Amino acid sequence: MRIQASAPGKAILFGEHAVVYGKPAIAVPLSGIRAAATGIARANPLAIFAEDLAPFPLKIGGEHCDQPNPLALMACLTTKHLGATSIKGDISIRSDIPIASGLGSGAAVSAALGRAIARLHDLEIPDADLNRLVFEVEKLHHGTPSGIDNTVVVFEMPIYFVKGAGAEFINFGKPLRLVLADTGIASLTRDAVADVRSMAHCEPARIARVFDEIGNIVNEARDCIERGARDRLGALMTANHRLLQALTVSSPELDILVDAALGAGALGAKLSGGGRGGNIIALAEEDAVAAIERNLLEAGAKRVMTTVAGKGSQDDDSD
Ligand code: PMV
Repeated sequence: MRIQASAPGKAILFGEHAVVYGKPAIAVPLSGIRAAATGIARANPLAIFAEDLAPFPLKIGGEHCDQPNPLALMACLTTKHLGATSIKGDISIRSDIPIASGLGSGAAVSAALGRAIARLHDLEIPDADLNRLVFEVEKLHHGTPSGIDNTVVVFEMPIYFVKGAGAEFINFGKPLRLVLADTGIASLTRDAVADVRSMAHCEPARIARVFDEIGNIVNEARDCIERGARDRLGALMTANHRLLQALTVSSPELDILVDAALGAGALGAKLSGGGRGGNIIALAEEDAVAAIERNLLEAGAKRVMTTVAGKGSQDDDSD
């Protein structure tokens, strides 16, 4: 028996970092870039083959899932969740989501692996359960994750997310054309989150005001997304970027790409995710996409990608 499972990447449109402190954030799945797992039922104990990693046998199904490796932890948690004592077969994982670049690679790989393990047992894990398991693995990646990454990746829907309160799915008044550009710099979200925590500790009043302003932007952005008010939404993205600069999570490379997108006619642009490296996202009208992509590459982007969020919305003018 051979099974397939997958999960998408994601982009945070608004609210990263402040979301760790209880402010809302908005994220969309990137269904065009995915982590995929292929499983084959065999008699051997589960072996996971992942790009750049030697196959390694996993000790799973024990009392405690205290595995330091994210794949091993996900396998262990899933097996326990399914009530299985051991699991057999081979699973290969392939992902076209760049790692450590704010596009949800870790959560997508965990979600695809969890689904694949369940399917090898001829079972499906309900998304709500899978979301909880992936969140546990996110703690290895991020330390103190808000939960936004696992939620948008597992449910594969645009979400308005508040830590502890869960997610609301968002309806798009109009589709949004998003240009993503990668600095090519890998950066660890846990480090950026830790630095923001130190700042919040040292300057609580100033940082609380920044978080409040980001929260207000996110709420207005949700309204703009639902109404299809793209011009205002673009301005809000750029305003959110300025506040992320104030949190010191931008970088010269990210700022150069944001300016390049704006200079080529983007409606707005900001870093997306943990920052310090990784990707920026820019909001673009269709006829400006080619010029924006060109400018971003000339400004040093290692990779650009254009995607449409909210396809299928009422006023869908997407391809
Ligand atoms: O995984 P990343 O790099 O997209 O960052 C997640 C967003 C943060 O708000 C920085 C952290 C979190 O857990 O929400």
